[in-house]
Amino acid sequence: MDLSKFTQINPPHRLLMGPGPINADPRVLRAMSSQLLGQYDPAMTQYMNEVMALYRGVFRTENRWTMLIDGTSRAGIEAILLSAIRPSNKVLVPVFGRFGLLLCEIARRCRAEVHTIEVPWGEVFTPDQIEDAIKKVKPRLLLTVQGDTSTTMLQPLEKLGAICKKYGVLFYTDATASLAGNALETDAWGLDAVSAGMQKCLCGPSGTSPITLSPAMEEAIRKRKCVEEGIRTDAHQNGVDEMIYSNYFDLGMIMDYWGPERLNHHTEATSALFGARECARLILEEGLDNSIALHKLHGDALLKGIQGMGLETFGNLQHKMNNVLGVMIPQGVNGDQVRKLMLEDFGIEIGTSFGPLIGKVWRIGTMGYNARKDCVMQTLSALESVLTHFGFRTTQGAAMQAAWDHYNGSR
Ligand SMILES: Cc1ncc(COP(=O)(O)O)c(C=O)c1O
Repeated sequence: MDLSKFTQINPPHRLLMGPGPINADPRVLRAMSSQLLGQYDPAMTQYMNEVMALYRGVFRTENRWTMLIDGTSRAGIEAILLSAIRPSNKVLVPVFGRFGLLLCEIARRCRAEVHTIEVPWGEVFTPDQIEDAIKKVKPRLLLTVQGDTSTTMLQPLEKLGAICKKYGVLFYTDATASLAGNALETDAWGLDAVSAGMQKCLCGPSGTSPITLSPAMEEAIRKRKCVEEGIRTDAHQNGVDEMIYSNYFDLGMIMDYWGPERLNHHTEATSALFGARECARLILEEGLDNSIALHKLHGDALLKGIQGMGLETFGNLQHKMNNVLGVMIPQGVNGDQVRKLMLEDFGIEIGTSFGPLIGKVWRIGTMGYNARKDCVMQTLSALESVLTHFGFRTTQGAAMQAAWDHYNGSR
């Protein structure tokens, strides 16, 4: 083998302005390059406890079981769904984009009886629509997505906890793309489980998924207790309910791994944990409310710039996530060619779309480390040049001026 072909990793310089991943904050990268520790070293278990405390702050919760699942954001989703859903349980999923469909798909693999309600992509549900469906279906769980990056819409959740409580339904949301960029109040909104991801508003690389579980969710999971044979002792009693049909994602064992028992479940992804800890420190040092306000500021500046350029946006702007914008690809312009030139000549990545939006919509993110004025201005400037190159007519400089005016007006 000619090893000279395999040079040291040295990725090209890119500004990641798609719907995630984004460029990681250098502080997070530095934390991740720290030396490893043994799993049960008191220094390591202290870091784990700190991660739990820090993420309680990020999720705005008192939940004891606030921890990390090793794996990308869908690992957090799968861990919660596999641990909470018993085969044949009814679940209700309000679908308004690709990631609602992902919840359905994972729930089906848990052998749930999956019921859906749908609105067109670009819209969200009213609490009444969800309550009516709960009355009809009588699900054990309501599975929602807070910010569905595929449509850039943010489902209002604040009234759903009370509805779920009224009908005895467990309430979960996927906040992968919304946490720390949009308000999420785990306890005040009555959520029983939330999962998130690092590679969006949290400023980090993907690879761990922070989750939080309410006492009611813990109780449901504890009933399915089953400790793997090689580490089981006489003190470990099986629960009364069916076991969780995954070892890696068994939240019963994972709680005992993060808790005082320090059950020997998996080998911690230490570098990823160091990174996740730094992400939470960054957000809480900034202040969670400030972080959300900054995402709104830069998201709105991008919106003004895009409108100033004469482009149409996608979806109901009243329900737009702060951190991602859907932009309609103008008639006669090839969306992929624009993305290619943005990447090759300007080093800027913007996102394509899925399903019914493919070829029609670009998605531009302003989140995490890239929720910054310079990133917004560079992206608008490059997009204007590339679109002009492909024959789109716009007033030169109007986009930058509109964004700039927004920043100056918001001081
Ligand atoms: C809302 C939402 N849920 C889930 C996922 C899946 O995340 P991952 O690719 O990290 O597993 C994404 C990724 O973009 C997302 O935006």
